[in-house]
Amino acid sequence: MYHTHLAHLIWKDFLKPGMTVIDATAGNGNDTLFLAKCVLTPKTGLVHAFDIQEDAIKNTENRLQKNLSTILLKRITLHVASHETFPIGINPSLVVYNLGYLPGGDLAKTTLTNTTINSCNNALDILLPGGLLSITIYPGHPEGNLEKSAIFDWLREKPSFQIFYHTEINKPNHPSLITLRKPLTKSLSIKS
Ligand SMILES: C[S@@+](CC[C@H](N)C(=O)[O-])C[C@H]1O[C@@H](n2cnc3c(N)ncnc32)[C@H](O)[C@@H]1O
Repeated sequence: MYHTHLAHLIWKDFLKPGMTVIDATAGNGNDTLFLAKCVLTPKTGLVHAFDIQEDAIKNTENRLQKNLSTILLKRITLHVASHETFPIGINPSLVVYNLGYLPGGDLAKTTLTNTTINSCNNALDILLPGGLLSITIYPGHPEGNLEKSAIFDWLREKPSFQIFYHTEINKPNHPSLITLRKPLTKSLSIKS
């Protein structure tokens, strides 16, 4: 799982204790736990994790409880909800999407193009200036391929963002990683 390892390296390099992060697709909680270890201290840092499936949130909760102290668990909020709507008042430094379906779960409960794009737009609105969006895509299944092309169209509308795409040149349908860095300042339109 090179793409997952790479995503974790990028997050770890970017994150500092005390930051707020959102895991938009909690699944089995591997990413949520990794993020929590990067940003939480007993008094600082916040993690929000979303999944539409109760089982996924239960798996995430179990993983967190096994690996984190009670004091750190208090700084994590798990939402059985679609990532289309984020709670008001949260301004994360990083929002991560690990798209697709829960490994070993119901393949029909995969992320979907429209909701993913809506969510990414909402994530960019609340992301702090200089913040990062991380999206792992799985174009090897039909809905994942649709998501990939919709996300690429969406990315083409973002000239002021720094965007990187990590993929296997000779295996374009394998999982790939996209990162977007939100500009530090709003670009001004200058009229002459
Ligand atoms: C590939 S799995 C995530 C893996 C996870 N990050 C981990 O570390 O185990 C994708 C997850 O996205 C969830 N999902 C699908 N649509 C969603 C939505 N609209 N909002 C939030 N989660 C969604 C699925 O239920 C599934 O658990």
